[in-house]
Amino acid sequence: MSQIHSFNRAILRKPGASVVKGLRAGAGGDPVFADVASEHAAYAAALADAGLSLTVLDPLEEYPDALFVEDPALVFPEAAIVLRPGAPSRAGEGAFLRPTLEQLFEQVIDLPVGHADGGDVLMLPDKVLIGLSARTDREGAEALIAVLATIGYRGVIAETPREVLHLKTASSLLDEETVLSTRALAATGIFAGLRVIEVPDGEEGGANVLRVNDRVLAGAHYPRILEALDAHGLNVMPLENAAIAMIDAGFTCMSLRWSAP
Ligand code: GLY
Repeated sequence: MSQIHSFNRAILRKPGASVVKGLRAGAGGDPVFADVASEHAAYAAALADAGLSLTVLDPLEEYPDALFVEDPALVFPEAAIVLRPGAPSRAGEGAFLRPTLEQLFEQVIDLPVGHADGGDVLMLPDKVLIGLSARTDREGAEALIAVLATIGYRGVIAETPREVLHLKTASSLLDEETVLSTRALAATGIFAGLRVIEVPDGEEGGANVLRVNDRVLAGAHYPRILEALDAHGLNVMPLENAAIAMIDAGFTCMSLRWSAP
């Protein structure tokens, strides 16, 4: 099994009723709360089924996007990092994650300056890519590189196409050699040295998938992506995500995953 995708623990946060007002890049309508809750519960069940022990936190009604726990923090077996999300409405989320991270990690490090969302951070076998976006600025990315260096990781800044919300909205690592990426992101050359499976035209919304242990969680409504993952020999678990996709959810951003000793 891919070591980089070997996980036994995860932190999630249940959505509150306010989730229907979550941020979104487009001008779409609000999702129905019960649908978001049921998609989130199915996601949690899929992680548990993949062998992860879950810490599920209570909703934070004052933060509609708080279920996206991988934006205000990042975790590694060595340490957790509390980030500084770029959206003003999400700026306070990290403080609510910190006590849980302190219980579960020996070291919790704060990003000192700038802004960075975990959704812009893609772990690759030889480096940690940090995408610049409307949420992650150069100051935050450079500060994150310095923090990562203290725990033994090499961070590298990546320029991403303007229309991309987060780096991981448009790409996912599938195994040690392969990424799934939109054509526009792959064209920037940031995945040089890796095999790239390009997202079929029209299915860009499905580029965020989550490899966890022996399986890949992917959106159920992207048949050609599912087919490409299957053809690559992956064990694909399609999940309903139509409601959470209305607030730009990704499978990666709804949990913090790591391999605890
Ligand atoms: N709704 C997810 C985000 O924009 O942060």
